[in-house]
Amino acid sequence: MIPVCEPLLIGNELEYVKDAVASSWISSSGKYVAELEKKFPEYIGVNYATLTTSGTTALHLALRAIGIGEGDEVIIPAFTMIACAFSVCYCGAKAVFVDADRETWNMNPDLIEEKITSKTKAVMAVHIYGHPCYMDPIYEIAKKHNLLIVEDAAEAMGSEYKGKKCGSLGDISCFSFFANKMITCGEGGIVITSNKNFYDKCRYFKNLCFPLDKPRVFSHDDIGFNYRMTNVHAAIALAQLEKVDVYINSRREHAKLYNERLKEIRGITLPCEKDWALNSYWMYSILIEDEFNLSRDQLMQTLKEKGIDTRPFFIGMHRQKSLKDFGCDSSGDYPVTDEIAGRGLYLPSGSGLKVEQIDYICDTIRALAKNDKL
Ligand SMILES: Cc1ncc(COP(=O)(O)O)c(C=O)c1O
Repeated sequence: MIPVCEPLLIGNELEYVKDAVASSWISSSGKYVAELEKKFPEYIGVNYATLTTSGTTALHLALRAIGIGEGDEVIIPAFTMIACAFSVCYCGAKAVFVDADRETWNMNPDLIEEKITSKTKAVMAVHIYGHPCYMDPIYEIAKKHNLLIVEDAAEAMGSEYKGKKCGSLGDISCFSFFANKMITCGEGGIVITSNKNFYDKCRYFKNLCFPLDKPRVFSHDDIGFNYRMTNVHAAIALAQLEKVDVYINSRREHAKLYNERLKEIRGITLPCEKDWALNSYWMYSILIEDEFNLSRDQLMQTLKEKGIDTRPFFIGMHRQKSLKDFGCDSSGDYPVTDEIAGRGLYLPSGSGLKVEQIDYICDTIRALAKNDKL
């Protein structure tokens, strides 16, 4: 089976892990934590970073640090990964959904303003599958309504908006280091920001609200979390960061090959790259239109039988029982989200994918499109 995504550990991972273990600095202090918290924000182009245990906890921490709480509303895309909505719920706030744009699959900025109420405190800009959000109107709306921008760049390591890296576009930004992400340490995440106050709040809440200036004093003024990443995980993530440009280039190269081989096939919509965007193609994603021989689900099933693993697109946030039960308004229509959720899938996209594998995947799809006997 060609996996949909496999981590590629081709650098100093083992050496750094051995060093961390040998040094006995295996908990959440140590040189790899310090080094990664320095190098990662430098790479993105912001001032401060704090590591977390996952992308989900990074989002929760970021929202808590900027002051999201009970009674607040946060605007998020209807078409996104569930962690975006859950992180809002963890704060006791409500996630408010905005439908997607048919081309980029990101939140449609034209539909944000109508969702703003006196309770809205922030907009979460999520760069889906590696394509950046169109930020200019989001900046304008945020300024006009005094909203903070939380960037979820979990899927957009290496992506750029008008020459600036995703992760440097919001007031505070989050990444995930889950195994399928551009860089990984198995499980992990990071919050980055250039706002010193938000950074200090993140460090405070992530460490059980131990006082920042007296970390060993057992006096806690607020409810905090333990979202600290270990030095062993940081060792892996640092080795991965050293190779990040290799991974980004290979995903972009793979996308080029996929595009060339799939573009002539009727009924397949390819992923876009707007002229203001650099798409990292974190996951090479396509839509299966009515003109294709098979439905999306039939295609996925047939590809599986041919040894090719795929994943369907996210299901809209308005369709999630958990969020409805929590009290997020799930009424209203999200036609673009529903449409792409039903048509979209992503093909094998790992950085270590071979050209022969891409050829085999595309030949298989082409044959199915023509209804050839394979
Ligand atoms: C857009 C987005 N946000 C948040 C997350 C959550 O990250 P994690 O799985 O590390 O908790 C993911 C993970 O897949 C994601 O794709």
